[in-house]
Amino acid sequence: MTHEDPRTVVRAETPRGEIALRERTVDGATVHELVVAGVFAMDSRDTSTETALAERTLALLSSPERVLVGGLGLGFTALSVLKDSRVRRLDVVELEEDLVMWARLGLTPTLGVLGRHPRARVHVGDVADVLAVDPSPGAAEYLPPGPWDLVLLDVDNGPSFLLHPGNARIYAADALASALGQVSPGGALAIWAAQREPELLARLTDLAPTQEIPFAVEREGRQLEYAIYLARP
Ligand SMILES: C[S@@+](CC[C@H](N)C(=O)[O-])C[C@H]1O[C@@H](n2cnc3c(N)ncnc32)[C@H](O)[C@@H]1O
Repeated sequence: MTHEDPRTVVRAETPRGEIALRERTVDGATVHELVVAGVFAMDSRDTSTETALAERTLALLSSPERVLVGGLGLGFTALSVLKDSRVRRLDVVELEEDLVMWARLGLTPTLGVLGRHPRARVHVGDVADVLAVDPSPGAAEYLPPGPWDLVLLDVDNGPSFLLHPGNARIYAADALASALGQVSPGGALAIWAAQREPELLARLTDLAPTQEIPFAVEREGRQLEYAIYLARP
């Protein structure tokens, strides 16, 4: 495998630290990387689990018309949602205003499709506020209120590996109950994690029938086990 050092396409300072979009060439192909809060968050090399978060959950639902995605990242989960023609409206809530602007400017192919897709809207906001027990009307700009048929959360590497300490509140039992309360009958809440999360599984299981879907992933010679937690109220 041949690859070169990443080159910064665009960067910004936020109250949570640096956010940056970088690119590099690996075996002749362009790979995009996202840095959030000063640390590497993801790249576009293997997005199978981000895609699976959408595909595996949509496959279980009979009529997923309204979908909410928490965490834009490089947009792979969101774009997979849009590939399902039953989805009439996708709302993505992203904390970092700069990243939302980069999507609107189309700075990567995936973000570009999302930024101008007729069935999608990307909103600046904190998904913890949107799913809170008492969501404030302005929690995310221009976001119509729930319920949603499907709520997909990929804002951290899981509750045991947060991107921001403030996100811990998303995985508290009362917040999970509140999030489930914003899911339509027959719908689902799904949470992505970069490792098994037994406490999250137990907390969700106390609230609704919950499934753990593990994924074996090989990254740079290492075997990793990611997981999706799918709760159906
Ligand atoms: C790992 S990335 C998501 C990857 C995405 N699933 C994809 O397919 O590209 C996590 C994203 O969640 C955002 N984020 C983190 N905390 C958030 C919060 N509380 N509310 C909304 N977005 C948040 C980060 O800024 C980042 O864009």
